[in-house]
Amino acid sequence: MARTRCDRTPVWHQLLAAFDATGKHFDLRTAFAQDAGRFTRFSQEAPYVFADLSKNRIDADTEALLLTLASQCGLEAHRDAMFAGDAINSTEQRAVWHTLLRNPAVAPEQAKVHATLDAMLAYAESLRADSAITDVVNIGIGGSDLGPQMAVLALDAFATTGKRMHFVSNVDGHELAAVLPKLKAGSTVFLIASKTFTTIETMTNAQSAKAWFLAQGGTDTARHFAALTTNVAAANAFGITTTFGFWDWVGGRYSMWSAIGLPIAIAIGAQGFRDLLAGAHAMDEHFRTAPLASNLPVRLGLLDVWYRNFHGFTSRSIAPYHSALRRLPAYLQQLEMESNGKRVDASGEALPFGTAPVLWGEPGTNGQHAYFQMLHQGTDVVPMEFVAVKKARHALPGHHPLLLANVLAQAQALMVGKADSGGHKNFPGNRPSTFLLLDDLTPASLGALIALQEHRVFVSGSLWGINSFDQWGVELGKVLAKDIEARLASGDVSGLDGSTAGLLARLRA
Ligand code: F6P
Repeated sequence: MARTRCDRTPVWHQLLAAFDATGKHFDLRTAFAQDAGRFTRFSQEAPYVFADLSKNRIDADTEALLLTLASQCGLEAHRDAMFAGDAINSTEQRAVWHTLLRNPAVAPEQAKVHATLDAMLAYAESLRADSAITDVVNIGIGGSDLGPQMAVLALDAFATTGKRMHFVSNVDGHELAAVLPKLKAGSTVFLIASKTFTTIETMTNAQSAKAWFLAQGGTDTARHFAALTTNVAAANAFGITTTFGFWDWVGGRYSMWSAIGLPIAIAIGAQGFRDLLAGAHAMDEHFRTAPLASNLPVRLGLLDVWYRNFHGFTSRSIAPYHSALRRLPAYLQQLEMESNGKRVDASGEALPFGTAPVLWGEPGTNGQHAYFQMLHQGTDVVPMEFVAVKKARHALPGHHPLLLANVLAQAQALMVGKADSGGHKNFPGNRPSTFLLLDDLTPASLGALIALQEHRVFVSGSLWGINSFDQWGVELGKVLAKDIEARLASGDVSGLDGSTAGLLARLRA
């Protein structure tokens, strides 16, 4: 499969010229005034998600060039290689096959996937039916925490068993110490979620949870501990016999569809989890088969490249206007920045252009009363991504229309601005936003929304020529922390830089 880095395609120079000629002067208000069909032209239906892209600084000519860029980079072949299970994670020689986890078609290589899913869901159902179990504690970090936690919160309206779900990720003992007093050993199940079963935060929390369980008189670890991991041997060595596996071709930040999703299945049930997978699969099929010009992950990913590499915007803000989606920004931070926060291409060559934007955000309307000031009047332009849900699942009168009015108003205000000669009350406008609209927040629509985000990250990473599926950047800190942990005990500061040595001495004093 031949990939061409975006800056080495013939059309890249055309795009640079187009940006210089018109792109950098693009005004959204003029664009709408000149094109009555703009909303339709820049809207996109995809499974469970309607996207209004029209408030972005793009016209049909630019989008056509960006689509050519995608073709010249070999995006379709790269995408197909991912779906085929080729080892596109080239620095680790691994396939990137999270799409297989949500593919209902039965093929020989999928037998183990479906058998594991069936076993995991049967376990989830047995736990749901077990009234003696009141609390479930997921111990995991990164991809072994963010996806399940985000989804359990997002699908709270579908959680029927009334079990209390807890998520412990940080090695900071304050987190686990705050949860343990709420638990009773006999009515708690600990899920130790770690792809590698070596991550120090998770192992430390798991050891402490086990010690607490035994100290409380707990005996039946097979009943009260389960491991979700690719490293079943390490889980067994830890003393856990109830295990649900997955495979090295499931990346940590793409793993909520695997056994790592067990907390979701416990919360919403087996059918709910299958619906989540089905929603994601519908988006996979859209990404795999829709023409590039009407392919939502492709159109979003191309906008990401246009903003990062031509406009030079360095961040993107996500504002979910649904409080159940409050952990979506944190989840997307790992997805975007651990995947595409790379400074070399897949061959190891330094890149002459920017990659992952900083991704950040809070649920609306809270963000409006915190940092939206900067979005409207700050010196930097931050492309916004609004997520709204048409249907409310509460009966409180008045709230939902007010929420929807706010999300529409913010997108409108960013674009139209407001002239004021005094300066302080002037809103420049022309600030771009994407508007993602779900009819309802359900397991299926959440699955589709998350798969959409996975694939848009794939698209920009593909064009940038990087390997979006490794994360070597997290390794150095892990190694140094081990060294410093020993030095904190011994007081040895030899060979350390002056700052680290000074701080270490202060912490020991
Ligand atoms: O350190 C980063 C990372 O490897 C993430 O990619 C991953 O999601 C997280 O740590 C947790 O890893 P594990 O599931 O192996 O404990």
